Formats: sequence, C-alpha cells, structure tokens
Amino acid sequence: MMRKNEKQPSQHQEASGGRPTDQRAGRPSQPVDSDRLQEPVYDRRLLRRLLRYGRPYALHIALAIGLIILAAFLDILGPYLTKIAVDRYIVPGNYEGLSVLVALYVGVLVASFSVRYIQVLLTQFIGQNIIYDLRQQIFNHLQRLHQQFFDRNPVGRLMTRVTSDVESLNQMFTQGIVMIFGDIFLILGIVGMMLSISTHLALWTFAVLPLLFFASFLFRKKVRAAYSQIRYWLARINAFLQERISGMSIVQLFNREAKDFQKFRDINWQHTRAYIKTIFYYALFYPAVELISATALAIIIFRGGWLIQTGGVTLGIVIAFIQYARMFFRPISDLSEKYNILQSAFASSERIFKLLDVQPAIVSPPDAFRKESLEGRIEFDNVSFAYQEELVLREVSFRIEPGMRVGVVGHTGAGKTTLIRLIGRFYDVQSGSVRVDGVDVRRWDLANLRRHMAIVLQDPFLFSGTVLENIRLGRREIPEERVKAVARLLNAHRFIEQLPGGYHFRIQERGTNLSMGQRQLISLVRALVGEPRILLLDEATANIDSESEALIQDALKQALKNRTALVIAHRLSTIQHMDQILVFHKGRLREAGTHQQLLKQRGIYFRLYQLQFQSPVAMKQSVS
Ligand SMILES: Nc1ncnc2c1ncn2[C@@H]1O[C@H](COP(=O)(O)OP(=O)(O)OP(=O)(O)O)[C@@H](O)[C@H]1O
Ligand SMILES: [Mg+2]
Repeated sequence: MMRKNEKQPSQHQEASGGRPTDQRAGRPSQPVDSDRLQEPVYDRRLLRRLLRYGRPYALHIALAIGLIILAAFLDILGPYLTKIAVDRYIVPGNYEGLSVLVALYVGVLVASFSVRYIQVLLTQFIGQNIIYDLRQQIFNHLQRLHQQFFDRNPVGRLMTRVTSDVESLNQMFTQGIVMIFGDIFLILGIVGMMLSISTHLALWTFAVLPLLFFASFLFRKKVRAAYSQIRYWLARINAFLQERISGMSIVQLFNREAKDFQKFRDINWQHTRAYIKTIFYYALFYPAVELISATALAIIIFRGGWLIQTGGVTLGIVIAFIQYARMFFRPISDLSEKYNILQSAFASSERIFKLLDVQPAIVSPPDAFRKESLEGRIEFDNVSFAYQEELVLREVSFRIEPGMRVGVVGHTGAGKTTLIRLIGRFYDVQSGSVRVDGVDVRRWDLANLRRHMAIVLQDPFLFSGTVLENIRLGRREIPEERVKAVARLLNAHRFIEQLPGGYHFRIQERGTNLSMGQRQLISLVRALVGEPRILLLDEATANIDSESEALIQDALKQALKNRTALVIAHRLSTIQHMDQILVFHKGRLREAGTHQQLLKQRGIYFRLYQLQFQSPVAMKQSVS
C-alpha cells in the first residue's frame, strides 16, 4: 500500500548520465529519490566508497581501533583477576597477597576507564570530521547542479540528504565500524578465556548460543524492516512540512488547515506506528537476551557447583565464568544493533552517492569562450525548447542588436520567462541555438556569460541579511557609494534610507518584511550595480500599486540606458517606447515590430492593447 505511486527510476539511472551534452539537457532527469522502503544493501563497492571518506583520518581510526581492542583486553582481564583472587588468596586465606591483587584490579578498572574515554573522544572526532567533509561536498555539488534537477527534487528531500542521511553515516563511523572491532575482539577474547580456563564448563555455557543466535537473527530481520519504514515516513514528514510551511499563507487563505492537519496526522501516525514497531522488537529482544543470559548463568552455577564438588573446577573459575557470561551476551546483542546501524548507513550512503553521482547537465565546455567586454547581441536561431515533453517554445528566431531595447508580450504561459532562462543558459535548448555576441551560449564559459547579464525575475528573491548585502550579493568589490548612486538613479534610495537602519536594515528570509514593490526595486538595484551589458527583466511592474509603479517605470527608463535590454511586461505602457516588441503566443513568435507597426497590423498585439484599455488584468486571461 505504501508503495503506491512510488514507481522508481532504475537504481543508477542518474549515475549513468555520462557527459553533459545538449541532447541530455532536454531529457527529464529523474528525481534522486530513495526515500522508499529499502531492501537490505550489501554492496562491497558502496562500502569501499564509504571507507574512502575515512582515509584522511586513517591514523586516527587505527588508533581508535587499537584503543578499543585494548579496552576489551582490560575488560577480559578483570574477571581473570577475580579468579586468581579467589583461588590463590581468599580460599587459602592469604590476605596480604590479596591486597596487591585488589590494587591491580583497581588499576585495570582505571586504565579501562581512561582508554574508553580517549577512544570515545577520538571516534566522535573522526565521525564529526567525516560528516563535515561530506556535508561540504554535498552542498558544493548541489550548487553546481542544473535548474531542472531542482525542478524535480523537492527541497525537503534534498534537505534530508544533507542532514539526517549524513547523520546516519556519522553513526556508522562512530558506533559502527570502530565498535564492531571492539565487540568482535571482546567476544573472541571471552570465548578463548573461557575455553582455556575450563573447556568443560565453557562448552556447557555455550549450549545456549543457538538460542541467542536465533533470537538475534529474528530481531535483526524485523527491526531492519521497521527501520526502513521509519526512514521512509520521516522523509515524507520532512517533505510535507517543508512544503506546507513555505506555503502557509495559501494554506490559511484557502482554509486548508483542517485538511492538511488530517494529511499530516496520517503521515505522522504512520511514522509513529513504525517507531512503535521497532520499540516492540527492542522491548522483546533485550529481555529475551537477559533471559538467555540468565539461563547460561543457571547452567554455570548448577554445573559449576557440581564440578566444584567433584574437583573439576575451582570456586574462582565459577566466579570468573559468571562474570564472563554477563560480559559475553552484551556484545552479541549489540552486534545485532550495530548491524542495523550499518544497514541504515548503507541505505543513506546509497542515497547520498546517488545524489553525488548526478552529473551537472549545464556546465562550461572544456575550451570555453570568454570575453572581457560584451557587445550585447542576442540571437535566437530557430529555437525549440521543452521542459519536459511538451514544446514550450517552437522554432523561435529573432535578433537583438547591441544597445537595443526589446519588449516581450504574450499571455500567461506563452513562454516569455523561458526566453530569459535560455539566454542565461539555465536550461539547454532541444534544437536551434541561442547566441550571445554570435557565440552559442553552450560554448560560453558559464560564469563569464552570466557576469555580463543581469536578470530580474518575476518573483524577486531576497536572502536574509542586510539590504546592502542583498544588493552586493558577495561582490565585495562594489563600493557602498556606487550602490547608493544606483539606488538613487532607480528611485530606491529614498525608501531604503527610511527603513530602520537604512542600508543595514535586516531583511528576513525571502524578504518577507518588505513589500513586493520594495523587493523588486532592491533586486533591480542588485541587477544594475554590476554594470551588466545585457539586462533581462521579467515583469518588474506586476502586482504593485500605481505609485510604486510610477517609481519603477521611471527607474526602468534609467536602467535601460546604454545596454541591451529584454523586458517582459504585462502592462503595455512599460514597453510602448521600445525599439522593438516581440509578441508570443503559445510558444511561437507571432508578431514583431514597433508599437505603431504592431497596432497597424491589427493582430494579437492590437487586441492586447485594446484589452489593456478595458482592464489591465484582463489581458493575462484573454485572447485567442
Ligand atoms: N520549470 C518548469 N518545468 C516544467 N514546465 C515549466 C517550467 N517552467 C515553465 N513551464 C511551462 O512552460 C510554459 C511557459 O512558461 P513561462 O514561464 O515561460 O511562461 P510565461 O510566458 O513567462 O508566463 P507568465 O506570463 O505567466 O509569466 C508554461 O506552460 C509552463 O507550464
Ligand atoms: Mg513568466
């Protein structure tokens, strides 16, 4: 039931992407999704790749393993000392020798404590460093990925990769690998010790082992399944929360609280149920181990007591055996848990590696074209483009000469914003070519190309930070004076000055404490302080009041000077005076010309213009 709608891409589809070429770009990349229920993963390749992250800390790891083996050795030594104490000193009544032995025993305990202390510090140090490295690597990788990847992978899921998946790898390095060495050594040591002290009694004790192995086997199997369900539902919770919290205003506007509450309750309940299931197994397993271990104790006491009578073993041996039996069962039951940690780490690492294996589809070619100063010519040559299967642009051709100002109109979904995305090469075209200064954007050095252009998007995005930081956006070389000059030119200076703290006013995440118009003005300033040769503007005048609009209109006039500009507008007043207007309809370029020429044609533009007189918003819905 849970697998419904969870049709998955084949395991390594993303990884096999190969070279980033343009024919790849159009192909929908599959989501990096393995939040589904997982089969157990045994993959030597995976393990080898994981261990590679430990390589920089190889010395530390070796030391940690050495320490934990030493600790196990000390643990095994303790009961042996009690055996000697009983047999050699207590039973014969030699109390002088006993005090020396007790001192030795205390010494062993203190040494064991110190060794474990250092070992825990060391393994945590290793684990934390490894996850630090891994997080850096994942974030770095995410930053290089193409837009289409983010279109297809929900933020909540990617967050899970960087947080809880990485965390479970930490567990593997700190509690898994190192501890397993310790446990195995401890088990072997105890078995060896028991056999060498009294083979007979040892074999009697081991009689309960099959029972223990069977219980561990069952436990491992059940818990693993439950664990993968927990992970699955946790990822669902994350994805759900991420989306609903960012869309809270819509949830409230449409009174969806009750429905979403229900939905969340379902997911949350599934998660709880999966968790309770594991707790059920834990609650059963550990007491069962206790029971088995008690049975072993009973055997030791019963059989040992009898053997003491017949002279087969000494009292000291029985006391040592009782202690060993207690120590013996803990690592065996722990191993079952460690196994689960490893399993979950494998599952996490598989998801992480799958993400890391996604090849960035939009990258600069090896011999990339670079240019210090741009003329600013933009050409679309028979361009067809689809985000998925359906063509969004069809055989579009036009040419914008350096310094020209071009307006783009067309109703909603016509493909206007897509034009801008193609010029900035956020997506690659399926056929035809987009050229800047006569060079195909796919041949340009990406960073260089984008440095020459400024893009102001429909939905301006501001980061948390000051106004100044948002305008500079890391370009520290831009002096504050220049920022202010540009802001003045664009009529943004006055309102910024009036904010508490002026240019140091703290903007909240996504700019929620500013109005839409203010956000647009700030992103316009941000675009223009870099002196871009090309300005791509996406309806900077939508959804704002007429006073702000007048300000922005005036700002635009300034902004368009001395550069090639492509302005998408829903209000024809914005673009009436442009050198050329392109009219798009259902992905095709249908008309082109100046305002006057287009009016004379009495085509789509003419109708848009008429509608605009009736009502400025009507235009978006209209026309056929
Ligand atoms: N990231 C995307 N993934 C898939 N399809 C998309 C994506 N972005 C846009 N589309 C589709 O492409 C088509 C054109 O979108 P585009 O954003 O270019 O329209 P637009 O002309 O800018 O519209 P508007 O005036 O509403 O801004 C739409 O049909 C839309 O559904
Ligand atoms: Mg748009």
